[in-house]
Amino acid sequence: MGGLLLMLLLVTLPALAADLPSLPKPKGEACIAANDVMRRDHPDMLKHQRDDTMRLGIRGGKASLKDCVACHSTADTAGKPVPINAEGQFCQSCHAYAAVKPDCFECHATTPTVKEASR
Ligand code: HEC
Ligand code: HEC
Ligand code: HEC
Repeated sequence: MGGLLLMLLLVTLPALAADLPSLPKPKGEACIAANDVMRRDHPDMLKHQRDDTMRLGIRGGKASLKDCVACHSTADTAGKPVPINAEGQFCQSCHAYAAVKPDCFECHATTPTVKEASR
């Protein structure tokens, strides 16, 4: 019984997390795939060892971490980019809730380049 409950929790967790009120509004018209697909599949889309899957984005585009940052990071009131893994930011709010800590941003930039930020 406990195992079933845990499984249900794990299956519904991404959906629940998406109802968090605090996800900052992304830039752009739409994501690289539908919200439910993104919630479920973004870890696989992004991982290095899944290079081939990664290039087969639903809308034909490859999942790029730079692109996630370009659309999903925000700027503070002074227009200074806020690191995407900072508390309360898009990726971080959800990951804190789900208790996952991707190590990606030890190497990858947490803010967009000036060109990306203004597009
Ligand atoms: C030890 C350093 C390191 C870590 C940690 C790391 N990467 Fe990378 N990653 C790189 C390098 C180097 C490249 C190739 C240069 C580039 O394209 O930025 C790269 C490229 C990529 C790319 C293709 C380029 C892009 O911006 O889309 C993706 C996607 C990616 N990494 C995802 C991830 C994800 C997801 C994680 C965390 C689970 C991660 N990486 C963790 C070093 C790292
Ligand atoms: C062109 C801009 C753009 C890019 C690139 C982009 N996103 Fe999105 N993303 C959006 C928009 C817009 C939404 C829709 C938000 C909504 O419906 O309220 C969204 C939705 C999502 C959602 C679902 C959020 C929810 O509330 O259900 C996740 C998860 C997500 N994106 C992750 C990513 C990841 C990971 C990447 C990089 C692989 C990425 N996005 C790349 C703009 C983008
Ligand atoms: C709607 C909630 C939600 C949002 C928003 C979200 N994530 Fe996630 N993410 C999760 C959950 C839940 C997991 C762990 C479950 C899994 O691996 O399927 C996860 C796992 C990951 C992993 C794999 C971690 C690992 O070490 O295995 C990466 C990489 C990742 N997310 C990147 C991102 C990036 C980049 C963004 C922002 C552009 C983002 N996520 C936004 C919920 C979210």
